[in-house]
Amino acid sequence: MATPILIDTDPGIDDALALLLAWNSPEVRVDAVTTVAGNVTVEKATTNVYRLLDLRKPAQLPTVAVGAAGPLARALQTATRYHGEDGLGDLADWPETEQAPASADAAGVIVQHARVSQRLLTLVALGPLTNLALALKADAAAMGFVGRIVAMGGAVDVPGNITPAAEFNLSVDPEAAHRVLAAKLPLDLVPLDATRQTVLPRAGLKKALSRSPGPIASRITAFSERGFRIDHAGGAQGMVLHDPLALALALDPTLAEWEAVRLAIGPEGETQRVRGEPNCRIARRVDVPRFVRLFLDRLCPPSPQRRASS
Ligand code: BDR
Ligand code: CA
Repeated sequence: MATPILIDTDPGIDDALALLLAWNSPEVRVDAVTTVAGNVTVEKATTNVYRLLDLRKPAQLPTVAVGAAGPLARALQTATRYHGEDGLGDLADWPETEQAPASADAAGVIVQHARVSQRLLTLVALGPLTNLALALKADAAAMGFVGRIVAMGGAVDVPGNITPAAEFNLSVDPEAAHRVLAAKLPLDLVPLDATRQTVLPRAGLKKALSRSPGPIASRITAFSERGFRIDHAGGAQGMVLHDPLALALALDPTLAEWEAVRLAIGPEGETQRVRGEPNCRIARRVDVPRFVRLFLDRLCPPSPQRRASS
């Protein structure tokens, strides 16, 4: 039976790749997608979820809910320098999306899914933890039912990507991160320590997409280009797959080794090891070849002609 998942996200180039991976993964059923301000405003993040739904047309449409417009206690810092002003590489030719979100209350939708699916539910958080913190505030008991939370964020034993010690998602909303870590949830954190191991060369993506030519493959190539360009300029040999790794670890936790740790959140969202009972597990060594194979095999569904002839 497929595991019900809810994806909380701020698309975002790598968030988009993670959503596409989820929609082609038989182990999970994406019941809901909730949006949060982070890489871009929550309005743009929501538009991007609908752009991707219109493009991919998954067999089961998720509930879409709009979440927090900004962090709990500070001003929003976006990441448009990396992801583009629109969050998806600023392509000029996205078709207009007509759909309207089912709900304006992401925290309420998270709580509702936690109540309905309980231990079966996996929450995958790919942006700042604001919506999760608001869901905890609304109904901590319901959140206690959730089977597993997989969140991309933090930089534990490696430098950050926003300050020397802070990673973007947690630095946007440190207060929310603190609340989530304090809530005694079954939390698996996927920090830069793990995600920086997963560098996808441009040629690898090109080769994989050439096996499934069509509008989805062309769009992935187009919106990913900015990510490759900026990561290359930063010295990487390809694009770092932060959010796709978190999604893949929600599908298959054996793709990484885990360490139970106690983390405290610093004033700028730093993840600091402290003594005491563990409050999360962090992903450490990743089986990179196995992850990249899974990611590339599933990112883009085969075009209908190919499916018929195979
Ligand atoms: C995280 O920050 C965002 O820009 C990415 O989407 C990812 O979730 C990496 O630090
Ligand atoms: Ca993200």
